[in-house]
This record gives sequence, structure tokens and C-alpha cells, in this order.
Amino acid sequence: MKRINVSLATRIATEHLSYRSLIVEIETDLARVSQTSTASLDGLRKLLRSFHSQVRRHFALEERGGLFEVYDEHPLAFRRHARAMLGQHRVFLERLGRILETVNRIERLDSPEFTEFSRDLRDLIAALRKHERDEDELLERLVDHDIRHGPDHP
Ligand SMILES: [Fe+2]
Ligand SMILES: [Fe+2]
Repeated sequence: MKRINVSLATRIATEHLSYRSLIVEIETDLARVSQTSTASLDGLRKLLRSFHSQVRRHFALEERGGLFEVYDEHPLAFRRHARAMLGQHRVFLERLGRILETVNRIERLDSPEFTEFSRDLRDLIAALRKHERDEDELLERLVDHDIRHGPDHP
């Protein structure tokens, strides 16, 4: 049975932390621009672009680093949960892609488009936070499972 590679698990957990600090920066900037209709969106656009590449790289690390293959060789509860998380990656990237397109189009902060963009961004951030929290928990359970069971135990 495949076991979790400790350096991969550590890298994923570390990325979750840097990811969270970028989310906080985005939230702070979103709050700033929401306060005045003449604020510039340039900073937020830049943050969202780097967030998009960070999220893409992070998902690729989880997908190509072999993490899901490890889950696949574990009991059904792990496999199910992991498959659901994997499916969320594609959905998140699509949503983030749409949010980026919208923010590049917005001309006025007092427009309905900006209100819709803010709502979509806040919803996505909440869903991403939950995803990463669930993932941390699942990863912890996986490591715990592998420590408790012998090398040939399923
Ligand atoms: Fe993930
Ligand atoms: Fe993750």
C-alpha cells in the first residue's frame, strides 16, 4: 500500500499557510476598495492574478505529487472524501477564472457588476478556506492511519 510521503505532506501544509495569508491580503484590499467608489482596482487585480497562479500550482502539486494515489489505496472513507476534494479543484479554478475576467472588465466601483464580483469573491474565499481546512484534517487522519497500521494493513 502506498504511504504518504512526509515531505509532500509538509509542503502541502506549508502552502496552505502561505495561501491563507494571501487570502487575508485579498480580503483587506477588497474591504479597502469597497469603502470608496474612486479607489483603484489595480492592486486587487494584481493580488488576484498571483492568487490564481498560486492556487493552480498548489492544486497541481496535490494532483501530480501522488497524494490522490495514496488516498486511493486507503479505506473507502478516505477515497470518497479525497475524490470529492479533487473534484472541487476544477470547480474552484473555473470560478476563479470567471472572477478574474470580471475584475478586469469592471470600470466603476458603484456598479452592480462590482457588487456581484465582491459577492462571488467572498463566496469563493469561504469555500476555498473550507476546502483547505478539510484537506488538512484529512491529511492528518491519513498520517495518523499510516502510523497506527502496519505496512501491509489496508
Ligand atoms: Fe486541494
Ligand atoms: Fe490544498
